[in-house]
Amino acid sequence: MQEAGFRALGIQAEYLRVEIPGQELAGAIPALRQAGFQGWNCTLPHKEAMFALCDAVDATAKESTSANTVVASKNGLRGYSTDADGWEDAVAERWKLNLATQRILILGCGGVGRTLAIRLAQKGCRGLILANRSPEKAARLRKEILPTAKSIISVIDWNQENFKKTTLETDLVIQATSLGLSPTDPLPLPEGCLRTGLRIFDTVYRKDFTPLIRLARSRGADAVDGLGMLLHQGVRALAIWTGRAAPVSAMRQALEKEAGRPL
Ligand SMILES: NC(=O)c1ccc[n+]([C@@H]2O[C@H](COP(=O)([O-])OP(=O)(O)OC[C@H]3O[C@@H](n4cnc5c(N)ncnc54)[C@H](OP(=O)(O)O)[C@@H]3O)[C@@H](O)[C@H]2O)c1
Repeated sequence: MQEAGFRALGIQAEYLRVEIPGQELAGAIPALRQAGFQGWNCTLPHKEAMFALCDAVDATAKESTSANTVVASKNGLRGYSTDADGWEDAVAERWKLNLATQRILILGCGGVGRTLAIRLAQKGCRGLILANRSPEKAARLRKEILPTAKSIISVIDWNQENFKKTTLETDLVIQATSLGLSPTDPLPLPEGCLRTGLRIFDTVYRKDFTPLIRLARSRGADAVDGLGMLLHQGVRALAIWTGRAAPVSAMRQALEKEAGRPL
């Protein structure tokens, strides 16, 4: 996707995968710079650590205290977070939703759930409900975002009965756990919650869609997976690195080709 974007702009660049173990990020940065990297994306488990390692960060990184996109220049490292904007772009493309009117349930308050909860709380939605398998994480997040939130934020415990009750009064469920990465994972929501009129945004993506997406669609829910978010966070990253408008259709085409299906 990124290399297709560079090609479409006539920029000679490579986008490589580099795996760095959890504790070795700080030590790896001089080597990345020496190897000639002018920027990078970083993902699990490095986004928060990368934020701390940047010499400067923009408002998106500050908002989530994480960085998934970095520009490396003679001035040092500048960090950005394109996840929340990428998610909003994907939502806008699919649904044309006014988020302010939505009652939203976020399943999972790890990296991506936290980032989206912070954005939604700041932006304001009709109601924001947080659930996390380990409950203290959801409670901590609520406490953190409450002082500046424009939304009413509540926390529910991670159990099937709560999900059944809550989804009756929910417009949009954001699935932000890692469940669904493996086809043998349990569903994050009980099957009975999936109904016509419910929108589901599963941040996870698989070539054959996650079990949640497949089942939700078969039950009449309007369900979309994380491939659109992946595209749009990447589109925003490329625009940051190059300072130019990203060639979205070339990037989309490459991503869809790799995924083996349309978004
Ligand atoms: N589409 C995109 O562009 C995009 C971008 C970023 C992330 N993602 C997706 O989002 C997923 C989460 O990423 P992350 O960075 O937020 O990871 P993370 O920080 O490790 O958080 C993982 C979350 O999943 C929960 N979880 C894990 N196993 C579970 C289980 N068996 N039952 C219930 N909850 C479980 C964790 O709960 P505990 O706190 O209790 O452990 C935590 O809330 C990734 O797998 C990735 O596919 C997609």
